[in-house]
Parts: sequence; structure tokens; C-alpha cells
Amino acid sequence: MNELNNREKELLKQIKHLLSLVIFLVLVIVVFTFINVSGIQDISRLLSLNQQHKEVKANLLNTINDIPAIAKSQDLWHAPEERELQNDANEAVLSYGRELISNTSVYFGPNGKLASISNGMNCQNCHLNAGTIPFGNNYGAVFSSYPKYRARSGKIEDIYKRITDCFERSLNGKAPDTSSKEMKSMASYINWVGKTVPKSVKPKGSGIYELPYLDRAADSIKGKILYKDKCQSCHLQEGTGQFNFDKTAYLYPPLWGPHSYNSGAGLNRLSRLAGYIKANMPFGASYNAPQLTDEDSWDIAGYIASKPRPHKVFNNDWPKINEKPIDHPFGPYIDRYTEEQHKFGPFKPIKKELDDLKKKKQASI
Ligand code: HEC
Ligand code: HEC
Repeated sequence: MNELNNREKELLKQIKHLLSLVIFLVLVIVVFTFINVSGIQDISRLLSLNQQHKEVKANLLNTINDIPAIAKSQDLWHAPEERELQNDANEAVLSYGRELISNTSVYFGPNGKLASISNGMNCQNCHLNAGTIPFGNNYGAVFSSYPKYRARSGKIEDIYKRITDCFERSLNGKAPDTSSKEMKSMASYINWVGKTVPKSVKPKGSGIYELPYLDRAADSIKGKILYKDKCQSCHLQEGTGQFNFDKTAYLYPPLWGPHSYNSGAGLNRLSRLAGYIKANMPFGASYNAPQLTDEDSWDIAGYIASKPRPHKVFNNDWPKINEKPIDHPFGPYIDRYTEEQHKFGPFKPIKKELDDLKKKKQASI
């Protein structure tokens, strides 16, 4: 009797063990299936994005191929052709410079091969096709105008200072040393892009498209609706952008949030952002085939500008307040308008007041 009882107890114990093992295994299977399904979904989402991106990029490249001819016919600046670079005596340096500008993140991003000194953006994210597209924030006027006086620093700046600025602001990080092979190569390449432009000339089509001011402030509520329709598929609802497959760079760069350009960057001025968007976004648009009206571009820019981004203070900026651009979003100003109005507009009244002030000053001399 007693013996049977013991055997029963033993059996019961084994059954319990077996049962907990089964429950454990079921749990493990459930967890793994869940991880796998979401993992696979993630991978297939990225693969399809990659495919989509390749198609858009191929389309853009087609457009780009047409651009020099169109630019020529419209008397706009156009970059030297790629094969000229290959035939240049300085080819190795120029190609390395171009590579650093196209794939900056591979070298200087958070997992950079050479250093980890930037937010992971590529120069090319803003200077399209390595700074060669008309109105694509290109480098057409750099060789012709640098060294030059810049109001932001109140000093004569050379090209190295200007590249450093973009590393510190647009890439929210630090620049490599001016004497490094990398800085020298980038500078050589940027100069090469604008090599045919005569000294002091800023050709039409260089830099960023100048969008005429609206009669009203940019409307970030309208901008939000447009953003959802025209931008969100790539840059995402949270503006974070999306990494490429192996996370070495952005497939779609961030527009705001901790990994975007900081508050001291050029794109944090509404006119720069709106002009860039008008001539280049949604990706695939160009100055001669824009997809947005002027108003839409200002409103979307207003929405992006209303979002948070890294704040970095540059105490030595704008030593002469009267040289601050109208759309610089931080005071002090010499006029009576608020920071809000300097950030979102309307800009026309500010411009009028500043023009009147200048006239008065000239009259009193
Ligand atoms: C987030 C966008 C962004 C990124 C990324 C960026 N830049 Fe810029 N860059 C700008 C803007 C905006 C301007 C000012 C254009 C203007 O006001 O006409 C500018 C201006 C410049 C200029 C001067 C152009 C001129 O005609 O005066 C140079 C040179 C330059 N950038 C180099 C670089 C380099 C090199 C990198 C990468 C290390 C880089 N930029 C990354 C936005 C960016
Ligand atoms: C089809 C995808 C796609 C759509 C849609 C799109 N973009 Fe972009 N955007 C890109 C890509 C790709 C880049 C970087 C270009 C490169 O590296 O060659 C970029 C770069 C930018 C940049 C400069 C870099 C940065 O991150 O600050 C801004 C600003 C921008 N886009 C704004 C917009 C706005 C506003 C819209 C909607 C009107 C929009 N984009 C729609 C793909 C897209």
C-alpha cells in the first residue's frame, strides 16, 4: 500500500515535470514565432523599401542625366561631367573627396570607419548628387566665392571653415582636422565642382532656390497635412527617417529629432528649407519639374521647423546684429519683430522695416 503510494507520488512528480517542460517549450515556441514573424516583417519591409528607393533613385538619375542639357539651354549653372573627373590628373583625390561627401556616414557616422564624429547624415543628403544638381544646394559658387566675408562669423572664411561649419551644425558633430587627407580631398572636390565659374560670380542655379516670400506666415497646420501626404512615406511620421539595410547610413534622412541637423544649421532658416524642398522634394522632383506649389513648400517647411531638434549654441554667431538674415530664428534683432515672426514669417513687413532703416542710414551719411 505504502509502496504503491510512493510509486504514485513518483509518477505524479514525473508528470508534473513533464507538464512544466511542455509549458516551457510552448512558451519558447510562442516567443520565438513572435520574434521571427516581426523580424521577417521588418526585413521584408526594408527590402521593399530598398527596392522602392532604387526605383526612385533610378528615376532621379534619369532626370539628372537630362539636367545638364536643360540647364545649358536655360543658361543655368551645371556641374562638369563625371567623365571629366575620371580624366583629371588629380582623379584619385577628387574621387575620394566625392566619396566622402556621398557616403559621409560610412567614414564619420556613429559607426564610422575613420571616426565617430557626426549624426549619421551624409553631406549628399542635403547637397544632392554630391553637390552637382542645379538648385540642389550644389557647390557651384564655392570655388568662385571663397575665401569670402560671412556675416555669421563676421570674418573672412576659407572653404575649410565652411566645411567645418556643416560638420558642426548640419551633421551636429565635429569636423576632421583641417590638415587631414579627408578635409583636403573634400575641399579639392568641392572646388572642382565649381571650377569653371569666374571669380566672384554666383551663377544662376547654384546653391538653393530663392522662393518669393508669402504675404502670410507659414502655416504649420496645413504643413502637417501636406507632410502626411507627400513626405511621410519616406521620412516617417516622427520625422526620424529610416536607416538602410545594414544601418551604415540613412536611406531616408531624419528631418527633426535627436539625429537631425541642429538649431544652428542653415536648414533651420525657413527660406533655406522651403527653397530646398520646393526644388528637390518629394525625392525625384527638380527645379524644372517641381511637385509642390510655393505655398505648400513654405507650409511644409513651417511644420518641420515647428518640431524639436538638437539645440547647440554658437555664441560668436552674427557679431553684427544688423547683418542677421530676416529668417534667423533666434534674437536679438535690430527690428521690433518677435522670434516667432522671424521664424515663420510673414517676412515682408520685416524686410520693409530693415530696408527703410538702411535707407535712413544711407541718407544720414
Ligand atoms: C542638413 C543639411 C546639410 C548637410 C547634411 C550638409 N550641409 Fe552643407 N550646407 C547646407 C546649407 C543649408 C547650406 C547653406 C546654403 C545657402 O545658404 O545657400 C550649406 C552650405 C555648404 C557650403 C557652402 C556653399 C556655398 O555656396 O557657400 C559648403 C562648402 C558645404 N555646405 C559643405 C558641406 C559638407 C562638406 C557637408 C558634409 C560634411 C555638408 N555640407 C553637409 C546644408 C547641409
Ligand atoms: C521617395 C522618398 C522621399 C519622399 C517622399 C520625400 N523625401 Fe526628402 N529625402 C529623401 C532622400 C532619399 C533624401 C536624401 C537624398 C540623398 O541622400 O541623395 C531626402 C532629403 C531630404 C531633406 C534634406 C536632408 C534632411 O534630412 O534634412 C529634406 C529637408 C527633405 N528630404 C524634405 C522632404 C520633404 C519636406 C518631403 C515632402 C514634401 C520629402 N522630403 C519627401 C527621400 C524622400
